[in-house]
Amino acid sequence: MKFLALLASVMVLVFSTSVINIAHAKDTDSRKDIKAVKSDPLIRGAIVYKNYCALCHGHKGDGKARATKLYGQGNLVITMDNNPPEFYEKMIRYGGGSVGLSRYMPGWEDELSEEQLADVIEYLYVMSEPEARGRAVFMTNCILCHGVKGNGKGRASVMYDPKPADLTRSDKNDAYKKMIITNGGAAMGRSGVMPVWGLQLKEDEIDDVIDYLRTILVVPPPEQ
Ligand code: HEC
Ligand code: HEC
Repeated sequence: MKFLALLASVMVLVFSTSVINIAHAKDTDSRKDIKAVKSDPLIRGAIVYKNYCALCHGHKGDGKARATKLYGQGNLVITMDNNPPEFYEKMIRYGGGSVGLSRYMPGWEDELSEEQLADVIEYLYVMSEPEARGRAVFMTNCILCHGVKGNGKGRASVMYDPKPADLTRSDKNDAYKKMIITNGGAAMGRSGVMPVWGLQLKEDEIDDVIDYLRTILVVPPPEQ
């Protein structure tokens, strides 16, 4: 009997938590929201760029990176405005040598799929804008909790109390955001669920995501 009573209470517990989850689930990002992010060429292109190109060209495409010194004679700054798109496509596919430029720029046709090539090229054309880079940082690191829209309604948000902040209504200035993103919630006397990003993201990436967060505010920005 004791066992049955226990079983019954476990079932009630399971049932009630799933009801709570369903009630919340309506509110959180849908599968469609997530799919839209996963199939966005600018997000996928940013991931390709970070994995294959940033080492030489720098995270911002400004030619400042760990390996930059090794290729001193080449121009590593990505501008995309001196040549037509076909030129860049050829160069990225077959390497710098194929267009009469530095052979230190490798060809990527064996490493990247057609889709990845198209995506990274699309990203190269927007990556000089901080918000575009920051959007990619946000969509690849923050949406599980803060949601695709940044409104705090990510799929994991139901698990946490306090909830992930609604970043569209933040009253915090950029300096505060930089501190909490770099050092995590606990360091600011807030929830330790907000991770420490200073180890995983470069300072540039954190600055970019803060630029992006400014663009999603639906309330007047706080004094800086
Ligand atoms: C091993 C270092 C290295 C890596 C990795 C690398 N590149 Fe390059 N890239 C170069 C060099 C060197 C040049 C300069 C060529 C020149 O001016 O002679 C260059 C030039 C370029 C240019 C021309 C820039 C402009 O605006 O004129 C583009 C575009 C480019 N690379 C895209 C990419 C992409 C996309 C990736 C990743 C898939 C990538 N590169 C990875 C070394 C690299
Ligand atoms: C694992 C869940 C989780 C992830 C992933 C996460 N956050 Fe958070 N974040 C939180 C929680 C929870 C809070 C609220 C903390 C509190 O109120 O004590 C928070 C708070 C914040 C705040 C403070 C906002 C304000 O107005 O007070 C900022 C800014 C922020 N997060 C940015 C980010 C950024 C940028 C990323 C991605 C690089 C990110 N977060 C990823 C959980 C998360």
